[in-house]
Amino acid sequence: MKIVRTVNELASITDTLKKDNRTIGFVPTMGYLHEGHTTLMDESKSYADILIASIFVNPLQFGPGEDFERYPRDEERDQKIAKQHSVDILFMPTVDDMYPQESTVNVDVKRRTDVLCGKSRPGHFNGVATVLTKLFHITKADFAFFGLKDAQQVAVVKGLIDDFNFSTKLIAVQTIRESDGLARSSRNVYLSDQERDEAVHLHKALRTGQQLIIDGAKNPVMIIEKVKKYIETHTNGQIDYVDLLSFPSLDKIDTVNQQVIIAVAVQFTKARLIDNIIISENGIVPKAIV
Ligand code: PAF
Repeated sequence: MKIVRTVNELASITDTLKKDNRTIGFVPTMGYLHEGHTTLMDESKSYADILIASIFVNPLQFGPGEDFERYPRDEERDQKIAKQHSVDILFMPTVDDMYPQESTVNVDVKRRTDVLCGKSRPGHFNGVATVLTKLFHITKADFAFFGLKDAQQVAVVKGLIDDFNFSTKLIAVQTIRESDGLARSSRNVYLSDQERDEAVHLHKALRTGQQLIIDGAKNPVMIIEKVKKYIETHTNGQIDYVDLLSFPSLDKIDTVNQQVIIAVAVQFTKARLIDNIIISENGIVPKAIV
C-alpha cells in the first residue's frame, strides 16, 4: 500500500493509471475506519483494478460549534486497517494542501438537504459536495463507494454526479447489520444494555412500514404515524424524526407511487441512532438503488 500525502502526487499517479487503462475504485472517508468503511473497500475489489481510499477530515463540512477539532483521528490504526483491506493507495492530504487558499468557488447543494439530518446541519452538504468534487477530479475514480446508512449523503452525491456530469459511477452499498437487524454503528457502544435491546426496534419499525407498503398502503402520513407509534411503544428513546420521502430526490410525497425511503433518527441517553430502508412502491428492496 502506498501512502500519498499531496494532491499533486496523487494526480500524477492517477494520470499514469488512466494512461495504462487501469480502472479506479475510490472510498472517501474521514478516517477512524470501521466496518462501514471496510465493507466499501472490499466491495471495490470486484469493480476496479486499483483501490484508492482517502482519509481527510474535511473542515468545510463542519459547522461552527461542531466537532472538527475533536473528530477522532488515528493514522497508524487506519493505515493498518486500510492495508488489511487491500487498499492500493491511501491518500492522506493536509488541510493546507487540499485548501491552499481561501476558496474562489464552493459547490452549493440546492436540494435534498433541508430534510432528515441535513435539516439541523445547514451548509454541511455544501462542504461534502465541494470536497468530493475535488476528490473525484484528483482520484479520477471510475467508481465511488458510499454506504446507504447515510442515505441522504448518497442522494446528494447522486445529484452532484448527475448535475456536474462526473464520469465516476456511484455505487451505493447496503447497511451492514447485526444478526438481530440493528444497523452497525460506532455509536452502538454508547447504548446501555436495555437500550441495546430496545434499539433493535428501529429496524423492526422500518420493517413495519415496509410491510404496510407491501400490503398496499399508499398514504405516507399514516405509514409515518404507524412507524412512530411502533418506536414509541417499543423504546424509551426520543424520536428526532420519522419521515417517508421519495428517493433519491428526497421530496415530500402525497402517495407512495415511486421508490421511497423511510428514515428514522432516535436519541437514546448517550447515542443518537439513525436508520433507514429504501424500497420500491411495492415495498421491495431494489437491487440497484441509484
Ligand atoms: O461520509 C464521510 O465520511 C464524508 O462525508 C466524506 C464522504 C468522506 C466527505 O468528506
